[in-house]
Amino acid sequence: MRMFKKNKIDSNKVPKHIAFIMDGNGRWAKKRGLPRAKGHEEGAKRIESLALSAKKFGVKVITLFAFSTENWKRPKEEIDYIFSLLEKFLKEGKESFMKNAIRLMFIGKIDELDKKFSDLMYLTMDETKNNTGIILNIAINYGARSEIVEMVKKVANDCVCNKQEISKIDESVVESYLMTYGLPEIDLLVRTSGETRLSNFLLWQIAYSELVFTKTYWPDFKEKELEGVIIEYQNRNRRFGGLK
Ligand code: IPE
Ligand code: IPE
Ligand code: MG
Repeated sequence: MRMFKKNKIDSNKVPKHIAFIMDGNGRWAKKRGLPRAKGHEEGAKRIESLALSAKKFGVKVITLFAFSTENWKRPKEEIDYIFSLLEKFLKEGKESFMKNAIRLMFIGKIDELDKKFSDLMYLTMDETKNNTGIILNIAINYGARSEIVEMVKKVANDCVCNKQEISKIDESVVESYLMTYGLPEIDLLVRTSGETRLSNFLLWQIAYSELVFTKTYWPDFKEKELEGVIIEYQNRNRRFGGLK
Protein backbone atom coordinates (compact mmCIF):
# COMPACT_ATOMS: atom_id res chain seq x y z
CA MET A 1 0.00 0.00 0.00
CA ARG A 2 1.27 3.46 -0.84
CA MET A 3 1.77 5.56 2.28
CA PHE A 4 2.18 8.94 0.68
CA LYS A 5 1.94 10.64 -2.67
CA LYS A 6 5.19 11.70 -4.24
CA ASN A 7 5.47 15.24 -5.49
CA LYS A 8 8.74 15.05 -7.42
CA ILE A 9 9.64 13.09 -10.53
CA ASP A 10 11.30 9.77 -9.76
CA SER A 11 13.92 9.49 -12.49
CA ASN A 12 13.77 5.68 -12.35
CA LYS A 13 10.08 5.53 -13.28
CA VAL A 14 9.75 8.04 -16.09
CA PRO A 15 7.20 7.01 -18.75
CA LYS A 16 9.08 6.04 -21.92
CA HIS A 17 6.31 7.11 -24.25
CA ILE A 18 3.66 9.76 -23.60
CA ALA A 19 0.83 10.49 -26.04
CA PHE A 20 -0.95 13.84 -25.98
CA ILE A 21 -4.35 14.85 -27.31
CA MET A 22 -3.57 18.54 -27.72
CA ASP A 23 -7.03 19.95 -27.15
CA GLY A 24 -8.44 23.34 -26.22
CA ASN A 25 -6.72 25.74 -28.63
CA GLY A 26 -10.06 27.22 -29.73
CA ARG A 27 -11.36 27.70 -26.19
CA TRP A 28 -8.05 29.20 -25.09
CA ALA A 29 -8.47 31.85 -27.79
CA LYS A 30 -12.18 32.38 -27.14
CA LYS A 31 -11.54 33.01 -23.45
CA ARG A 32 -9.26 35.87 -24.50
CA GLY A 33 -11.58 37.24 -27.17
CA LEU A 34 -9.13 36.14 -29.88
CA PRO A 35 -9.78 34.25 -33.14
CA ARG A 36 -9.39 30.45 -33.03
CA ALA A 37 -6.33 30.76 -35.29
CA LYS A 38 -4.47 32.52 -32.48
CA GLY A 39 -5.14 29.52 -30.23
CA HIS A 40 -3.65 27.17 -32.83
CA GLU A 41 -0.66 29.47 -33.22
CA GLU A 42 0.00 29.49 -29.46
CA GLY A 43 -0.63 25.75 -29.29
CA ALA A 44 1.93 25.07 -32.01
CA LYS A 45 4.47 27.19 -30.12
CA ARG A 46 4.27 24.85 -27.12
CA ILE A 47 5.44 21.80 -29.06
CA GLU A 48 9.17 22.38 -29.33
CA SER A 49 9.64 23.43 -25.72
CA LEU A 50 7.47 20.54 -24.57
CA ALA A 51 9.69 18.11 -26.48
CA LEU A 52 12.75 19.64 -24.80
CA SER A 53 11.16 19.39 -21.36
CA ALA A 54 10.16 15.78 -22.02
CA LYS A 55 13.71 15.02 -23.11
CA LYS A 56 15.08 16.66 -19.97
CA PHE A 57 12.84 14.44 -17.80
CA GLY A 58 14.06 11.33 -19.64
CA VAL A 59 11.00 10.57 -21.81
CA LYS A 60 11.98 8.74 -25.02
CA VAL A 61 8.97 9.37 -27.26
CA ILE A 62 6.11 11.84 -27.33
CA THR A 63 3.22 11.29 -29.74
CA LEU A 64 1.08 14.35 -30.43
CA PHE A 65 -2.40 14.35 -31.97
CA ALA A 66 -2.21 17.32 -34.34
CA PHE A 67 -4.97 16.62 -36.87
CA SER A 68 -7.55 13.85 -36.88
CA THR A 69 -9.37 12.16 -39.76
CA GLU A 70 -12.48 13.86 -38.33
CA ASN A 71 -10.93 17.35 -38.31
CA TRP A 72 -11.64 17.64 -42.08
CA LYS A 73 -15.17 18.60 -40.96
CA ARG A 74 -13.84 22.00 -39.86
CA PRO A 75 -13.99 25.13 -42.05
CA LYS A 76 -11.43 25.07 -44.86
CA GLU A 77 -9.88 28.27 -43.59
CA GLU A 78 -9.11 26.72 -40.20
CA ILE A 79 -7.74 23.54 -41.79
CA ASP A 80 -5.47 25.52 -44.10
CA TYR A 81 -4.22 27.54 -41.16
CA ILE A 82 -3.41 24.41 -39.11
CA PHE A 83 -1.42 22.99 -42.05
CA SER A 84 0.41 26.28 -42.56
CA LEU A 85 1.46 26.13 -38.90
CA LEU A 86 2.70 22.60 -39.43
CA GLU A 87 4.74 23.71 -42.41
CA LYS A 88 6.21 26.60 -40.43
CA PHE A 89 6.96 24.33 -37.49
CA LEU A 90 8.85 21.83 -39.64
CA LYS A 91 10.75 24.44 -41.65
CA GLU A 92 11.67 26.77 -38.81
CA GLY A 93 12.25 23.97 -36.32
CA LYS A 94 14.87 22.13 -38.32
CA GLU A 95 17.83 23.89 -36.75
CA SER A 96 16.54 23.11 -33.28
CA PHE A 97 15.73 19.48 -34.17
CA MET A 98 19.35 18.98 -35.20
CA LYS A 99 20.85 20.96 -32.32
CA ASN A 100 18.69 19.21 -29.72
CA ALA A 101 18.79 15.72 -31.30
CA ILE A 102 15.03 15.57 -31.88
CA ARG A 103 13.90 12.88 -34.31
CA LEU A 104 10.65 13.63 -36.14
CA MET A 105 8.25 10.86 -37.06
CA PHE A 106 4.65 10.90 -38.29
CA ILE A 107 1.64 8.63 -38.11
CA GLY A 108 -1.53 9.01 -40.13
CA LYS A 109 -2.48 8.86 -43.78
CA ILE A 110 0.31 11.16 -44.88
CA ASP A 111 0.13 10.22 -48.53
CA GLU A 112 -3.41 11.60 -48.75
CA LEU A 113 -2.17 15.10 -47.91
CA ASP A 114 -1.20 17.81 -50.33
CA LYS A 115 2.16 16.70 -51.77
CA LYS A 116 3.87 19.86 -50.57
CA PHE A 117 3.18 18.78 -46.97
CA SER A 118 3.90 15.08 -47.36
CA ASP A 119 7.20 15.83 -49.12
CA LEU A 120 8.22 18.12 -46.27
CA MET A 121 7.24 15.47 -43.73
CA TYR A 122 9.27 12.75 -45.46
CA LEU A 123 12.21 15.11 -45.82
CA THR A 124 12.12 16.06 -42.12
CA MET A 125 11.88 12.39 -41.12
CA ASP A 126 14.89 11.60 -43.26
CA GLU A 127 16.98 14.55 -42.11
CA THR A 128 16.40 13.81 -38.43
CA LYS A 129 16.56 10.01 -38.58
CA ASN A 130 19.91 9.74 -36.78
CA ASN A 131 18.91 12.01 -33.89
CA THR A 132 18.72 10.06 -30.64
CA GLY A 133 17.64 12.60 -28.00
CA ILE A 134 13.87 12.14 -28.19
CA ILE A 135 11.33 11.06 -30.81
CA LEU A 136 8.65 13.62 -31.61
CA ASN A 137 5.95 11.59 -33.32
CA ILE A 138 3.18 13.71 -34.83
CA ALA A 139 -0.23 12.26 -35.75
CA ILE A 140 -1.62 14.00 -38.82
CA ASN A 141 -4.67 12.84 -40.75
CA TYR A 142 -4.68 10.11 -38.15
CA GLY A 143 -7.65 8.08 -36.93
CA ALA A 144 -7.32 4.88 -34.93
CA ARG A 145 -10.18 3.15 -36.75
CA SER A 146 -8.66 4.03 -40.10
CA GLU A 147 -5.32 2.65 -38.87
CA ILE A 148 -7.03 -0.60 -37.84
CA VAL A 149 -8.79 -0.88 -41.21
CA GLU A 150 -5.43 -0.42 -42.99
CA MET A 151 -3.85 -3.06 -40.75
CA VAL A 152 -6.63 -5.56 -41.56
CA LYS A 153 -6.25 -4.91 -45.29
CA LYS A 154 -2.47 -5.42 -45.18
CA VAL A 155 -2.72 -8.59 -43.10
CA ALA A 156 -5.42 -9.98 -45.41
CA ASN A 157 -3.33 -9.14 -48.44
CA ASP A 158 -0.22 -10.80 -46.99
CA CYS A 159 -2.27 -13.91 -46.17
CA VAL A 160 -3.57 -14.08 -49.75
CA CYS A 161 -0.01 -13.67 -51.08
CA ASN A 162 1.26 -16.37 -48.70
CA LYS A 163 3.49 -13.90 -46.88
CA GLN A 164 1.58 -14.42 -43.64
CA GLU A 165 0.15 -17.58 -42.11
CA ILE A 166 -3.24 -17.10 -40.46
CA SER A 167 -2.35 -19.46 -37.61
CA LYS A 168 0.73 -17.35 -36.82
CA ILE A 169 -1.15 -14.06 -36.38
CA ASP A 170 -0.79 -12.96 -32.79
CA GLU A 171 -0.67 -9.61 -30.96
CA SER A 172 2.91 -8.90 -31.97
CA VAL A 173 2.07 -9.60 -35.62
CA VAL A 174 -0.89 -7.21 -35.46
CA GLU A 175 1.38 -4.60 -33.89
CA SER A 176 3.89 -4.94 -36.68
CA TYR A 177 1.21 -3.75 -39.14
CA LEU A 178 0.31 -0.63 -37.11
CA MET A 179 1.71 2.84 -37.74
CA THR A 180 3.39 2.96 -34.33
CA TYR A 181 5.42 -0.20 -35.01
CA GLY A 182 8.86 -0.01 -33.43
CA LEU A 183 7.94 2.63 -30.86
CA PRO A 184 7.79 1.69 -27.17
CA GLU A 185 4.42 1.01 -25.48
CA ILE A 186 2.47 4.13 -24.59
CA ASP A 187 2.74 4.37 -20.81
CA LEU A 188 0.71 7.53 -20.43
CA LEU A 189 -1.98 9.27 -22.47
CA VAL A 190 -2.77 12.89 -21.64
CA ARG A 191 -5.73 14.89 -22.93
CA THR A 192 -5.87 18.59 -22.16
CA SER A 193 -8.90 20.93 -22.06
CA GLY A 194 -11.19 18.96 -19.75
CA GLU A 195 -12.73 16.68 -22.40
CA THR A 196 -12.68 13.06 -21.30
CA ARG A 197 -12.90 11.16 -24.58
CA LEU A 198 -10.38 9.61 -26.96
CA SER A 199 -11.73 11.11 -30.20
CA ASN A 200 -10.44 8.16 -32.26
CA PHE A 201 -6.82 8.37 -31.08
CA LEU A 202 -4.63 5.27 -30.67
CA LEU A 203 -7.17 2.64 -29.65
CA TRP A 204 -5.04 -0.51 -29.78
CA GLN A 205 -1.91 1.13 -28.38
CA ILE A 206 -3.49 2.56 -25.23
CA ALA A 207 -5.09 -0.70 -24.07
CA TYR A 208 -3.01 -0.55 -20.86
CA SER A 209 -1.84 3.06 -20.77
CA GLU A 210 -2.51 5.28 -17.79
CA LEU A 211 -4.93 8.05 -18.74
CA VAL A 212 -4.69 11.59 -17.42
CA PHE A 213 -7.20 14.32 -18.27
CA THR A 214 -6.23 17.88 -17.38
CA LYS A 215 -8.38 21.01 -17.39
CA THR A 216 -5.54 23.08 -18.86
CA TYR A 217 -6.06 24.26 -22.43
CA TRP A 218 -3.23 23.08 -24.68
CA PRO A 219 -1.57 26.51 -25.15
CA ASP A 220 -1.15 26.67 -21.34
CA PHE A 221 0.43 23.21 -21.11
CA LYS A 222 4.07 23.89 -20.22
CA GLU A 223 6.93 22.20 -18.37
CA LYS A 224 5.24 22.52 -14.99
CA GLU A 225 2.09 20.83 -16.33
CA LEU A 226 4.18 18.08 -17.93
CA GLU A 227 5.92 17.51 -14.62
CA GLY A 228 2.49 17.32 -12.97
CA VAL A 229 1.17 14.60 -15.29
CA ILE A 230 4.37 12.57 -14.94
CA ILE A 231 4.06 12.74 -11.15
CA GLU A 232 0.41 11.73 -11.41
CA TYR A 233 1.49 8.77 -13.57
CA GLN A 234 4.14 7.78 -11.05
CA ASN A 235 1.58 7.77 -8.26
CA ARG A 236 -0.58 5.23 -10.14
CA ASN A 237 -0.35 1.54 -9.31
CA ARG A 238 0.04 -0.31 -12.62
CA ARG A 239 -1.05 -3.88 -12.10
CA PHE A 240 -1.60 -5.13 -15.66
CA GLY A 241 -4.20 -7.55 -14.35
CA GLY A 242 -1.91 -9.03 -11.72
CA LEU A 243 -1.61 -8.35 -8.00
CA LYS A 244 0.74 -5.71 -6.71
C1 IPE B 1 -7.11 21.18 -30.69
O1 IPE B 1 -7.79 22.33 -30.33
C2 IPE B 1 -6.38 21.32 -31.99
C3 IPE B 1 -6.93 20.56 -33.12
C4 IPE B 1 -7.94 19.75 -33.08
C5 IPE B 1 -6.26 20.74 -34.38
P1 IPE B 1 -9.27 22.59 -30.80
O2 IPE B 1 -9.25 23.37 -32.06
O3 IPE B 1 -10.05 21.33 -30.85
O4 IPE B 1 -9.80 23.50 -29.62
P2 IPE B 1 -11.25 23.49 -28.97
O5 IPE B 1 -11.54 22.08 -28.57
O6 IPE B 1 -12.20 23.98 -30.01
O7 IPE B 1 -11.13 24.40 -27.80
C1 IPE C 1 -9.05 15.68 -31.11
O1 IPE C 1 -9.58 16.90 -30.74
C2 IPE C 1 -8.12 15.84 -32.27
C3 IPE C 1 -6.89 16.57 -32.03
C4 IPE C 1 -6.49 17.05 -30.89
C5 IPE C 1 -6.04 16.74 -33.17
P1 IPE C 1 -10.99 17.43 -31.30
O2 IPE C 1 -11.22 18.73 -30.64
O3 IPE C 1 -10.99 17.39 -32.77
O4 IPE C 1 -11.97 16.30 -30.77
P2 IPE C 1 -13.52 16.37 -30.38
O5 IPE C 1 -14.23 17.04 -31.53
O6 IPE C 1 -13.63 17.14 -29.12
O7 IPE C 1 -13.90 14.95 -30.21
MG1 MG D 1 -11.16 20.33 -29.51
